[in-house]
Amino acid sequence: MTTNDVMSKLVSLCKRRGFVFQSSEIYGGLKSCYDYGPLGTELKRNLANEWWKAMVQTRDDIVGLDASIMMHPKVWETSGHLSGFSDPLVDCLNCKERFRADKAPRGEPGASVEFHEGGKSSGKKLSAAVEARGYVCPQCGSPKLSDERQFNLMFRTALGPVDPLSSFVQDIQGKNLSVAELRSKLEEAIKSTAVYLRPETAQAMFVQFLNVQQSMSMKIPFGIAQVGKSFRNEIVTEHFIFRSCEFEQMEMEFFVEPGTQAEWLKYWCEERMKWYQSFTNKKDGFRLRQHEKNELAHYADNVYDIEYMYPWGWGELEGIASRTDFDLSRHAAASGVKLSYFDQQKNDPATGKPGWRYTPYVIEPAAGLTRTVLCVLIDAYAEEVGQDHEGGEKTRVLLKLVPRLAPIKAAVLPLVKKDGQPEKGEAIVKRLRKAGVITSFDVQQSIGKRYARHDEVGTPFCITVDNQSVVDDTVTVRFRDDARQERMTSDGAVRLVMEKMGAVYTS
Ligand code: GAP
Repeated sequence: MTTNDVMSKLVSLCKRRGFVFQSSEIYGGLKSCYDYGPLGTELKRNLANEWWKAMVQTRDDIVGLDASIMMHPKVWETSGHLSGFSDPLVDCLNCKERFRADKAPRGEPGASVEFHEGGKSSGKKLSAAVEARGYVCPQCGSPKLSDERQFNLMFRTALGPVDPLSSFVQDIQGKNLSVAELRSKLEEAIKSTAVYLRPETAQAMFVQFLNVQQSMSMKIPFGIAQVGKSFRNEIVTEHFIFRSCEFEQMEMEFFVEPGTQAEWLKYWCEERMKWYQSFTNKKDGFRLRQHEKNELAHYADNVYDIEYMYPWGWGELEGIASRTDFDLSRHAAASGVKLSYFDQQKNDPATGKPGWRYTPYVIEPAAGLTRTVLCVLIDAYAEEVGQDHEGGEKTRVLLKLVPRLAPIKAAVLPLVKKDGQPEKGEAIVKRLRKAGVITSFDVQQSIGKRYARHDEVGTPFCITVDNQSVVDDTVTVRFRDDARQERMTSDGAVRLVMEKMGAVYTS
């Protein structure tokens, strides 16, 4: 299968089976915005729960936070996002495409390139030389481009019942202002009520460092974790839910003693790699890549990306950054609140005296929840060619999701809608649901079609109820990955599913 094949089949499956829909589809959709359907919601929630369990609930040293999406504008001024969280934006003067300069196809300065006027695939052919900047338009290949300008990725909105435009209009009335003056007045008016949608969840963990540390009596090393929405006005959105403007992150800030950051960075790289590999089929589809010095974010002294082999090549899944004491120091200086930690057990290395107050260093594993949804869907998507009843070729499409992630864990399927079979099936459903196992009761269409539907949405176990079930209380369990069927008692089937889900068995 080619890259396009896999992605187009997956996007189509996501829509057909209720994983992901285009936002506002009946109005033509909203670019790069997506809605998670009934099964996508379950899958995303299962992933977030797995992360929360691994990062918070099964550890003594990490606690959770659920912070507001809008924060004081000072947060973004201090973190550097207001001045520096931007991408270089360029317009193509030929086809009008707007794109990111740093992602554009490179070309040797001075080299002659050909392209079609207006970016059309046919029509007048033009040629021009690649400029000193060394890139061309990703859409039409033209080197005729506007100047680069920095485009801030944060979404700005206004907080409170004030319309910044009315004060602007009052302010300029009767004045003969230049464009530059008008712009500056407008900026001033907007700034007075401006707040920003957070572009990362991380900053809340820094500004709430003291509240969390003191209220929970946390000792260093410790972490604060959060799952939530982030927003970036991306110039280029791509590959379905891989890069969108509204997305979810799973981030954890791990506060450590200065000087120990290298060992903790190694620890978290290993932990996070194991986490991804614990619920994916292709273990070698992941790699760690260290950032080059010129790639490092302004706050980091070392960064590794966990990359995944997407159908279009290796790409980022999670960044694990050694963020130094940059954020706590900056917020402490800007707010006047000491964001430091006092360790009574340690001697101050500067004086040799007992007791050491320091600003903790931070290791940050920053994962994308929505991007991980895409990763596990790609990993799970499989096609198997077999034979139909007449000996013809038949392709079975399945999602080989690990049972913990599957949106539906078990489907109970009476062969017919009579003879006591539905009642038998309902009793099994009731037991599974009571134990918290998400179970579907499905009586529509032929059994073959029902199996195919559940293969496609990744249901690991189908429990089929037939005539014999009513007589001797046995059922068949069909295993999704190899379509194997095993006959067992209905109690045995319930026990098997519960065991695989880690649910507590009750008779
Ligand atoms: N606090 C650090 C931080 O936000 P990042 O590398 O910009 O670091 C972390 O983002 C993760 O968030 C990425 O590895 C990716 O999984 C996800 N992410 C970032 N931008 C995204 C976008 N526009 N759409 C979907 N996921 C995104």
